[in-house]
Amino acid sequence: MTALKATDYKNLSMRAAIVIAAQILANPRCVLGFATGGTPEGIYAELVSMYKDGLLDFSRVTTFNLDEYYPIDPAHGQSYHRYMREKLFDHVNINPGNTFIPNGLAADPESECREYEAKLKGAGGIDLQLLGIGRNGHIGFNEPHCVFSGFTGVVTLTEDTRAANARFFSDAGQVPAQAITMGVEQIMRSRAILLCAHGKSKQSALEKLFTGPIDPRLPASALRFHNNALVIYCD
Ligand code: PGA
Repeated sequence: MTALKATDYKNLSMRAAIVIAAQILANPRCVLGFATGGTPEGIYAELVSMYKDGLLDFSRVTTFNLDEYYPIDPAHGQSYHRYMREKLFDHVNINPGNTFIPNGLAADPESECREYEAKLKGAGGIDLQLLGIGRNGHIGFNEPHCVFSGFTGVVTLTEDTRAANARFFSDAGQVPAQAITMGVEQIMRSRAILLCAHGKSKQSALEKLFTGPIDPRLPASALRFHNNALVIYCD
C-alpha cells in the first residue's frame, strides 16, 4: 500500500482523477469500481472536465458501484443511482447499460447480491476500484466486524455511519438502516485500488490504517495485504 498526502481537496481530486483517467486511457474497455459520498464528488467533477476537454472516452468503460442503501428507490434524491447520474454518468458518454449499481428496491435482496456478483464476474472483475473510508474505517458499507466480510451482501449500518450520512438527508431518521455492499474480499480482488480520504474526521481511521494492526475492526486495514493499493488523503 502506498500513501500520498495531497495539499488540499482540489489537489486530491485532480490526482485521483488522473489515476482513473490513466486507467481508461491504458484500457478503454476497463472495468471501474466506483464509490459515492462526499469525497469522490470532486474526483467525478475532474473526470467530467477531462471528458469535456476531449481527453477521455467512456463509451466502452464498464462500472460497478460498491454499494447502495436498502431499501431505497433508485429515483430517491439520496440513492446512489441518482448520485452517480448527477455527478458523472449524465455528463459523459458512458453507456448506461454498462453501469451497474445494486438495486435498492430488489424484492429479494439476497438474490440481488448473487446476481450482482455474477455480473461482476461476467465482466472479468474490477481493474481499478475507487474507495472512500468511513470515520470508523469502513470501506463500501463493510462496517467494523470480527471477521473481514466476503462477497456482496445485505448489511446493517452502524449508528455512526447513519449519523455521518444524515447530512445528506432531510433528517437522520430518513437514512436507510441497511445497505447492499460488495464485501471486503471482493474489493480485495480488484486489480488496483485507489482509496481517497478528505478531512480531519478521517484522521484517526487513517492513522490506524497506516500504523495499526490488520484487523477487521478496521475493515480498510485489509488493503495492507493488497499489492496495488494507493491512498490519497488530505486534511
Ligand atoms: P465521505 O465518506 O462521504 O466522507 O466521502 C466515505 C465513506 O464513508 O465511505
